[in-house]
Amino acid sequence: MLNLSCEDKRFVEEVWQKIKAKLEVTTVKSRDKIPYTTHDGVHDNQADLEKGFIYLWTNGFWAGLNWLMYNETKNENFMLTAKSSEKHLDRIFQNVFRMDHDVGFLWHLSAGASYRLTGDETSLQRELLASMILSSRYNPDGNFIRVWDKKGADGWTIIDCLMNLNLLYFASEKWGDNRFKSIAMRYADMAMRDHIREDGSVIHVVEHALDKPDTVVGYPQGQGYSPDSAWSRGQAWAVYGFILSYIHTGKEEYLQTALKTAGYFISEVKKTNYLPVVDFKAPKEPVYYDSTAGAIAACGLIEIAKITGKSKYLEEALNLLKAIDKNFASYSLDEDALLLMGSESYRKGIHVPIIYGDFFFVEAILKLKGSKFLIW
Ligand code: GLY
Repeated sequence: MLNLSCEDKRFVEEVWQKIKAKLEVTTVKSRDKIPYTTHDGVHDNQADLEKGFIYLWTNGFWAGLNWLMYNETKNENFMLTAKSSEKHLDRIFQNVFRMDHDVGFLWHLSAGASYRLTGDETSLQRELLASMILSSRYNPDGNFIRVWDKKGADGWTIIDCLMNLNLLYFASEKWGDNRFKSIAMRYADMAMRDHIREDGSVIHVVEHALDKPDTVVGYPQGQGYSPDSAWSRGQAWAVYGFILSYIHTGKEEYLQTALKTAGYFISEVKKTNYLPVVDFKAPKEPVYYDSTAGAIAACGLIEIAKITGKSKYLEEALNLLKAIDKNFASYSLDEDALLLMGSESYRKGIHVPIIYGDFFFVEAILKLKGSKFLIW
């Protein structure tokens, strides 16, 4: 139960009205697209046969965003767009060489949400097929899920994969069979042990031995400044990822790790007025921001506030969302994206709109509005 002040309720309602007014238009305008970013204010289209990349890990977020909007408004336009997006994703199933751990992001937010909101059995088939693909990536000798197929990455694990575990929790519940959940918990346990430093900061990429369980052999460069820095979106994935694993399993250590990583995120982001820089341990200059990290962390902090009953987590989530609303959000109809100033990594794609920024911002605002639908 979240206790918002009258002023905070007013803030949430005002932001919600601006989001709704914008997305009611955008959902129709981009009905047959799968956007990743915008060019001159117009959504690109990853479903485009020539110019798009259907295998992109972010291609489930547009469907997920539309399902969040549909659930709140019951406006059928959002459902139509979400369903169109889900159908496009079937092309990915035709190419096993292109599917990695991100089948979780792709189908849990599209087909999974569709099934849970409408009972669509075709969507359930897609979701469960994706869960089999993800669980098949488990390496029993090394005791981890292989995240990517690129050469030399056989032993890599990344913190982001925590978010994909939600697909496995769902699958275990649906099949009535613990093996999916067991693989997910092994990964979450590994992440607690190998990805989290003593100070609560997060290591993005860890390399493991392929033939010896639970053995770290290196720390490859990830999306942050350096292997020993603290990439802010990775930190946010940990905050939200661990609290979700706690919600799905009840394992106390996941809650404690969510609190520890949240503590680090909050103490760092306070230094820049709640505008997350891309990497908390990077040199002070140049200053690169990442709006997506703030939105993801806010979602995690709100869930932590609900579970612990501690108002400070709610206050910090509101601080992040107010900073986003003031500095990074665009409610103009001349710009299809809702959030500007996302950053793909420390060295690439700086200060651009990215679709998951929009998704997590809307998810956070809806949580504060009282939505009980946990899309994860
Ligand atoms: N690797 C996923 C991300 O950019 O967060």
